[in-house]
Amino acid sequence: MLDKLKEIEKTALTALEAVRDEAALEGWRVAFLGRSSPLMQVFSGLGALSKEERPVVGQQANEVKKAIEAAFGSRSGEMRQAALERSLGGERLDVTLPGRRVPPGRLHPDTQILRELYRVFGEMGFQVYRSREVESDEYNFQLLNFPVGHPARDMQDTYFVEAEGRGDNPVLLRTHTSPGQIHAMREFAALDPHNPPPVRIVLPGMVYRYEQVDARHETQFDQLEGLAVGPGITFSDLKGTLADMARRLFGPQTRTRFRASFFPFTEPSAEYDIECFLCGGKGCAVCGGGWLEIGGCGMVHPVVLKNGGYDPERYTGFAFGLGPQRIAMLRYGISDIRYFWENDLRFLEQF
Ligand code: DAH
Repeated sequence: MLDKLKEIEKTALTALEAVRDEAALEGWRVAFLGRSSPLMQVFSGLGALSKEERPVVGQQANEVKKAIEAAFGSRSGEMRQAALERSLGGERLDVTLPGRRVPPGRLHPDTQILRELYRVFGEMGFQVYRSREVESDEYNFQLLNFPVGHPARDMQDTYFVEAEGRGDNPVLLRTHTSPGQIHAMREFAALDPHNPPPVRIVLPGMVYRYEQVDARHETQFDQLEGLAVGPGITFSDLKGTLADMARRLFGPQTRTRFRASFFPFTEPSAEYDIECFLCGGKGCAVCGGGWLEIGGCGMVHPVVLKNGGYDPERYTGFAFGLGPQRIAMLRYGISDIRYFWENDLRFLEQF
């Protein structure tokens, strides 16, 4: 009987060496310490032994049981430690080490540029006015002097949200921030319809176009619209404001350029560029030809003023729409606009 106990202990300890995971360890425990294990059978058979044998075998069985339990305890401890180390990347647990630093979040480069633009225009007396992203055709086009069927609509391929039963006034994702001009002017004019107050606002926001995506075009991008309305505002106010913006952003030596253009809601209209200082105007991957097109601008069309509740006989105004991401590309030397919404940490962590 004593030999049998020795054998049980040996078998158990040998089998334990092959145990590699929690499930195997539990199986081993049932096999060698469970109710129907050989060891437990020795205990339940004690009663059948002679008076002399019983204490000797009983004591020996207890010792084997203790040895097996101790082996189980240390093996399961080892396995727990190993699992912990694995979860820590193979290191030993050193409780005296300082904690792991959680990397602090940061603002998206587009948000950073937008906030800088709010500051620059804020210094020039512009307030931020927010407007909706889902618009009606009426606000996105018609009130901005794009009549139904006007060819200029082709400049802005549109995502429609709802057309059914809405005739010439479907619901769409705004293709530009310009419809905010109408919302803003109407809200301001309502304050005093006979004597509407002057307007000096910037209107930021996401716009959507059904575009062929490439390094300089995305289907979703930001715009910052600007609008100034008052008695006696001129085109030189517009030029001065935008040139000053560029100098405040990029330094006093910054050069800007205005090119005649066409927009239905401004007359005259221009596009304006900032000289690329990455290549000194020679042309590079960011700008293309030495100048980076930043946006469009012009004097608010009389029809648009009237649609906003401002009498074009008494008021004039200028407007502009710029691409903050274009500005961010110039500032940081980003050569592809697609990086902005890709959510790639390798890009985002650089700002
Ligand atoms: N809305 C125009 C576009 O997205 C940009 C623009 C041009 C806005 C001239 C203006 C403006 O306010 O005056 O293409």
